[in-house]
Amino acid sequence: QKQGPLAGRTCLVTAGPTHEPLDPVRYLANRSSGKQGYALAEALADMGAAVTLISGPTTLRPPAGVLTYFCETASQMRDLALAAAHETVFDAAVCTAAVADWRPTSVQSQKIKKINRDDVPPPLALSPNPDILAKLSAPSAFRPHLVIGFAAETETVEAHARAKLARKGCDWIVANNVGEGSDIMGGAENEVTLITQDKVEHWPRLRKDEVARKLALSLADWFLTAHKA
Ligand code: C5P
Repeated sequence: QKQGPLAGRTCLVTAGPTHEPLDPVRYLANRSSGKQGYALAEALADMGAAVTLISGPTTLRPPAGVLTYFCETASQMRDLALAAAHETVFDAAVCTAAVADWRPTSVQSQKIKKINRDDVPPPLALSPNPDILAKLSAPSAFRPHLVIGFAAETETVEAHARAKLARKGCDWIVANNVGEGSDIMGGAENEVTLITQDKVEHWPRLRKDEVARKLALSLADWFLTAHKA
């Protein structure tokens, strides 16, 4: 591990989308490149933290020096995150993953066939996925000391983010406006608002690695002041 303001700290990061299979060739997913989460894992490790990254399917190379686990579905991501959190009580957990809210209720073991062009499409029954951020945020002996969620919003970003903070039980929310024309999904830049219990910071539009560094520094600050341990 490197020297730096996060030396001795442990961090968990979830990143990327999840893929929820319908059959062997089809899945349901959110749009997510994983770039922001990977950049964050790298920034935290660069500042000395021991980082565990739990990643859904992406095309990215895992950052050097980061313990990375790969998964496909939300249930697998939840299992990996909870297993890691039970092994180490993390100083911080940051959920950047764009977890699919629902999964097909049943997964067909064979490809669902199109028979005739005019056939009615098959129905798509969905079941809710586990909420990993809410689960990590719930009071328990394993709760990371600081739990941070991301919120991709397309309108009234701050109000929605505040509501999410309360609903999920996390400590901070990083809200980004992914509204039309923002070019943030899959792009190299992000424009975020950091919402904590006692402050709101609007950050300028920055490269995702710069957002990652700034967030890692905010964590380091928090450990120094709010949480002397
Ligand atoms: O619920 P919503 O998707 O709006 O909240 C986004 C935040 O919650 C992100 O931090 C995301 O990683 C997390 N989340 C999660 N598990 C889910 C849904 C969202 O960890 N099933």
